[in-house]
Amino acid sequence: MDSIVVRGGGPLNGEIPIAGAKNACLTLMPATLLSDEPLTLTNAPRLSDIATMTLLLQSLGAEVSSLQKGQVLAMSSHDITNQHADYDIVRKMRASILVLGPLLARFGRAEVSLPGGCAIGARPVDLHLKGLEALGAELDLRDGYVHATAPGGLKGGTVDFPLVSVGATENVLMAATLAKGTTVINNAAREPEIVDLAQCLRRMGAEIEGEGTSTITVQGVDALHGATHPVVTDRIELGTYMLAPAFCGGEVECLGGRIDLVGAFCEKLDAAGISVEETPRGLKVSRKNGRIHAVDVTTEPFPGFPTDLQAQMMALLCTAEGTSRLEEKIFENRFMHAPELIRMGARIDVHGGHATVTGVERLKGAPVMATDLRASVSLILAGLAAEGETVVNRVYHLDRGYERVEEKLGACGASIERIRA
Ligand code: UD1
Repeated sequence: MDSIVVRGGGPLNGEIPIAGAKNACLTLMPATLLSDEPLTLTNAPRLSDIATMTLLLQSLGAEVSSLQKGQVLAMSSHDITNQHADYDIVRKMRASILVLGPLLARFGRAEVSLPGGCAIGARPVDLHLKGLEALGAELDLRDGYVHATAPGGLKGGTVDFPLVSVGATENVLMAATLAKGTTVINNAAREPEIVDLAQCLRRMGAEIEGEGTSTITVQGVDALHGATHPVVTDRIELGTYMLAPAFCGGEVECLGGRIDLVGAFCEKLDAAGISVEETPRGLKVSRKNGRIHAVDVTTEPFPGFPTDLQAQMMALLCTAEGTSRLEEKIFENRFMHAPELIRMGARIDVHGGHATVTGVERLKGAPVMATDLRASVSLILAGLAAEGETVVNRVYHLDRGYERVEEKLGACGASIERIRA
């Protein structure tokens, strides 16, 4: 398994191009299943999760071609041969469940493996299933699979989500585009990736209103057609690289960055003493004078502070002046980076979904273990500001969500190197 070696050092200066959003691309790709005409995505990120979704779609009979060094995905679901999403692929990536809604809507049947648990918590899919049932799906859970049918096709209905789920909103939104009649999704997720999906579906001929608010209304149509759609900027990659000069000093311009994608995050950066400036090409970030200030952070669904930036923010606050309190409200087990940061000299107390971080002057390099995608990048950032060398092991998590991380940070002057196993 590859590892990444970083040496703590001086300021970072330069520009970092931000890729298309992994999480948007992982829901835009299954949207191809809704139509027998081609769907082309531009600005796609080059990540192992995208390769996994490619394999899953191909296993269903879809054609997926990766063009222009992977930045364009040309897909066709003209000749779907089966509706069976196998455990072998689904277990590798939970987002595989997003093929369920589209398959059911277009073919009236689907068999999708249940994803099982993952490192950051139980992560059930009950809301996906309840949402599809509200559209008339008949579901049978057996042998680790959801066996779903919709005899006579899906019918529009009202879906009242008891809590906000990005994936469940996406699954139901896709399914509703081909259901007969009107679907209303209440307590829908408002994430930019949902807005991006709705825009793509509209390009394909879907009738959707209200995306980006808590109520989405969909008027079902008989068929969707082909389209070309650019994937929205990755707000999590953006937020991660915005933190690089906050850790190390210097000034980094994140190309393609937009404040509206990271509003709540920018408020915390400002309070911590980091300056963010909008430029014609993106967002320029630098550290104001002196040490980082402690701030309190609570993760929430969009437009709140994203759970996917919590680990990186915690790593920054390890060297802040004062005590910061972090509350994780989305996932139950998402502080696994804390013990690794403690190995680097951080002072962190975790109690359930709460963590208290007491800032120390400087962290010290150490061998550490990446436990999940965002945890791994938080350890890299921490290592860039720490004294000495940090070796981050098990970086396969990182490759699921960050393309060319060592190139992007290296171009700004970071001492970072991948050791291939
Ligand atoms: C998506 C993102 C992930 C991000 C998360 C929250 C993708 C591919 N992944 O994950 O990076 O961290 O949103 O912003 O887009 N829940 C249920 N039942 C369900 C579904 C979810 O109880 O059927 C719970 C989850 O366990 C979690 C919460 O709802 O506690 C929110 O999860 P959800 O928004 O569904 O996350 P994902 O779509 O899986």
